[in-house]
Amino acid sequence: MIYEKIIARRTIRKYQNKPVPKEVLIKCVDAARLSPSGANRQPLKYIIINDEEQLRKVFPLTKWAGYLPNYYPTEEEMPRAYIAILLDKNIRENPGHDAGIAAMAISMVAFDHGLGSCILGAIDREKLKEVLKLPENLEVVLLVALGYPAEQPVVDEVKDGDIKYWLDENGVLHVPKRSLEEVMRWNTWTS
Ligand SMILES: Cc1cc2nc3c(=O)[nH]c(=O)nc-3n(C[C@H](O)[C@H](O)[C@H](O)COP(=O)(O)O)c2cc1C
Repeated sequence: MIYEKIIARRTIRKYQNKPVPKEVLIKCVDAARLSPSGANRQPLKYIIINDEEQLRKVFPLTKWAGYLPNYYPTEEEMPRAYIAILLDKNIRENPGHDAGIAAMAISMVAFDHGLGSCILGAIDREKLKEVLKLPENLEVVLLVALGYPAEQPVVDEVKDGDIKYWLDENGVLHVPKRSLEEVMRWNTWTS
C-alpha cells in the first residue's frame, strides 16, 4: 500500500558502492514526467547522472545534513546516481511547486525498488550548471541523490519542539516528526 511505503521511506545519505540499474532511473524520471504540474505547463527537464566521472564531479557540489556537520557520505558511501530536476525557463519563469512533487515521485519509485534517496536543495547551482553543460534556458532546481542504502534512519517524536535529526550511540539517525495532534485539525483550526 502506498501509505505504508510513504511512512517507511526515510532520507538516506550513505550508500553502498553498487550501481543503480538504468531501468529504475528511467522509471523514476517517467514517474516525475507524469506527476501533477501547475496548469499542466510541465516546465521541468531531467538529467540522469550515473557516469563515474560525472558522479565524482557532482559530489563536491552537494551539502549534507545541515544539523549534523560531521554526518555526510564519505567517497566510498557517495551517491551512485543523481537525477537533476531542471527548470526550462523557455516554458515558465519559476518551477512553482512542480519540482517538489517530481522529487517525491522519484524518491518513492526509487524506494519501491529498494533504493535510498536524498532530495538535495543545498547545492552549488552555478557550478552544477557548468558540470551538466546546461544551456542558458535551463536551471537546476533540485538534485535527487540515489543509491542502495548503507544506513537505516528511524522516525522519532518531536520533543520540546526540537525538529533536529540526531545520531544515537550506535550511529543510527533519528528523524523527529511532529505528531498528528500538533499538525492536524478538523474543519477549522480552532476546533
Ligand atoms: C526541498 C528539500 C531539500 C532538501 N535538501 C537537503 C540537502 O541539501 N541536504 C540534505 O542532506 N538533506 C536535504 N533534504 C532532506 C531533509 O533534510 C529530510 O527530508 C528531513 O531531514 C526529514 O527526513 P526524512 O526525509 O527521512 O523524513 C532536503 C529535503 C527537501 C524536501
